Amino acid sequence: MHSTIPTQASGATDTVAVGDVLAALSHALDLTEGQPLGHSVRSCLIGMRLGEAAGLGADALGDLYHALLLKDAGCSSNAARLASLFGSDDHVVKPRMKVVDWDDRMRLALATWRHSGLGKSLGARVRHFVTIARQESMTRDLIATRCERGADIARRLGFSEATQGAIRSLDEHWNGGGFPDGLHGDAIPLLARILNLAQTIEVFWGTEGPAGVDAVLQGRRGTWFDPSLVDLARDLLRDPWFWEQVADPDVTSLVATLDPSPGARTFGAAGLDAVAEAFAEIIDAKSPFTSRHSWGVARYAVVIAEQMGLDAKEQTRLRRAGLLHDIGKLGVSSRILDKNGPLDAAERTAIEQHPLFTWEILRHVACFADFARQAAQHHERLDGTGYPWGLGADDLDLTSRILAVADTYEAITASRPYRAGMSVDEALAVLDARKWRHLDPHAVDALASIVSRDDPRDL
Ligand SMILES: [Fe+2]
Ligand SMILES: [Fe+2]
Repeated sequence: MHSTIPTQASGATDTVAVGDVLAALSHALDLTEGQPLGHSVRSCLIGMRLGEAAGLGADALGDLYHALLLKDAGCSSNAARLASLFGSDDHVVKPRMKVVDWDDRMRLALATWRHSGLGKSLGARVRHFVTIARQESMTRDLIATRCERGADIARRLGFSEATQGAIRSLDEHWNGGGFPDGLHGDAIPLLARILNLAQTIEVFWGTEGPAGVDAVLQGRRGTWFDPSLVDLARDLLRDPWFWEQVADPDVTSLVATLDPSPGARTFGAAGLDAVAEAFAEIIDAKSPFTSRHSWGVARYAVVIAEQMGLDAKEQTRLRRAGLLHDIGKLGVSSRILDKNGPLDAAERTAIEQHPLFTWEILRHVACFADFARQAAQHHERLDGTGYPWGLGADDLDLTSRILAVADTYEAITASRPYRAGMSVDEALAVLDARKWRHLDPHAVDALASIVSRDDPRDL
């Protein structure tokens, strides 16, 4: 990540290859999982080679490709629970859950202990550990939530039942010791077995190299993993050229071109709207306190644009930007995002990084790059006191200004567990007081003229 002031990325188009969109957006899922950027696309490359070696046909390979890129689409839905349960950063706990062998109870217990109650006293950590250890169904619930949400997102994006099933059963183990259903052997969909194997190989390859991968493959052959797939994976380990491809810094571009679906699938305008909506759900699912924020910002941005006479194309752009403006929050720990109390300096810095993550993610998604800058500028203020770049009025175009007004209005009117949302009149008074100094006066007036006339919930 960097903090230079962004210039506009280019490359907007309304018909794009599914692989281009999913490969680039999978980086947002990597951030949520606390994985290094590229984890999903590298897992995809590995999984596709395993699928080919297993003799899958073109249709099944297409299903596998989409499942590999969306495997972590449900990842944000258990982040808040993980953070509160472990009293720790979800970005610390989540990667451990991919690495620790759950079949080894002692190791799981120790790993749980190590990540319980970050920064807390010994007594508090013991209490956390005991709470976690007592909840036998905890892991099952956490994983079931994640798997169901991920499969549901794949369904709503129009992907096949095979793709959905692979995501749903991603964490099942060959010996029946996995989650959420404890499926055994061949009862686990083959694509799910490949997903689990591919993601585990990627994690160990990145942290412990080929020797570490081989040790895990041998150690979990027949327990976590399908023995015949393990044998194929061990063959793959002996192909140095393949691992050079996996290590290529431009692996995302390579994976974007690999969609083997017959007829090369593309997203049209409606498909891109569905993608933006799906990621808005992923973003909003991360925090129980902001469950419809992205949708609300998109809605207010569109009505402001309508009222200001902007054309349909600009309204579409604003809606997608509104849905995705906080995608960078996926990179911020739930422990900090959901903290009930004042933030210290380090926590505030972490929160204020989220627009930088938004910029980094969206500018690499060709079809969304034309609003990446504006989406990332929603906390900038006309007098230069905003963040993260401290831009001023001269740098903030109308799209950025509309998003800032929509974001502020949604945030202060939405109810949180610790405070009720402001009434329309109270919120409009706050916006009015911030006109010219922080917020664009014309955008504020446009919003005021609508919300004082219509019930905002009906907009
Ligand atoms: Fe934000
Ligand atoms: Fe926001």
